[in-house]
Amino acid sequence: MFIPAGSGGIGTFAIQLAKHLGATVGTTTSTPNVRMVRELGADEVVDYKEQQFEQVLHGYDAVLGTIKGDGLEKALRIVKPGSAVVSLIGPPDAAFARQRGMNALMRFIFGMLSRKIIGLAKRRQARYSFLFVRPDGRQLAAIGELLAQARIRPVIDRVFPFAQAKQALAYLETGRAKGKVVVRLVDE
Ligand SMILES: NC(=O)c1ccc[n+]([C@@H]2O[C@H](COP(=O)([O-])OP(=O)(O)OC[C@H]3O[C@@H](n4cnc5c(N)ncnc54)[C@H](OP(=O)(O)O)[C@@H]3O)[C@@H](O)[C@H]2O)c1
Repeated sequence: MFIPAGSGGIGTFAIQLAKHLGATVGTTTSTPNVRMVRELGADEVVDYKEQQFEQVLHGYDAVLGTIKGDGLEKALRIVKPGSAVVSLIGPPDAAFARQRGMNALMRFIFGMLSRKIIGLAKRRQARYSFLFVRPDGRQLAAIGELLAQARIRPVIDRVFPFAQAKQALAYLETGRAKGKVVVRLVDE
């Protein structure tokens, strides 16, 4: 499974969960974070400051889209036929609109927005889908159990008090967070 931006809030968890499920994981990050993503379990690590991942990695059968820009299109170059490309960053597709009970106009708009990437995916015989994460008690309980058993660990970059929630969001927006950024609701 290819999980780009392995050092981010999504990547640090996704690498560990994918490894827990038995996947081989490839990721990208910049030089200072290479060691950390290896420690989290990534098998193939591309330092994106040094190399283009699409020139190094190949044979993947799943991609988690986490990098804006042309990251998804490039990721399609490293997948095998029959693979799944699940994007967290869009574009949303018509199937997503249907799942969410949206009307025909929204299905049409999302269909248009995703037309290009779906076409590119089809050319690689891959399936594209958009995912917008929803809190799910059962999934969170299962992840909580893995954390309690120390089979996965949270990577926490910074903890902000609630009064500094705005600064926390601004920090997240820099795109440089190393793991999760936490806003503490109650001061200890
Ligand atoms: N659809 C959904 O439900 C959903 C849910 C959560 C998040 N998202 C989206 O998913 C994306 C990722 O979220 P996140 O929380 O993981 O973001 P994040 O924590 O802000 O990501 C920061 C990390 O990205 C790395 N990075 C930045 N540019 C990179 C590049 N070109 N190649 C490789 N790594 C790069 C940085 O590493 P370096 O400092 O080493 O560059 C940093 O560690 C965001 O766009 C977010 O909005 C969507």
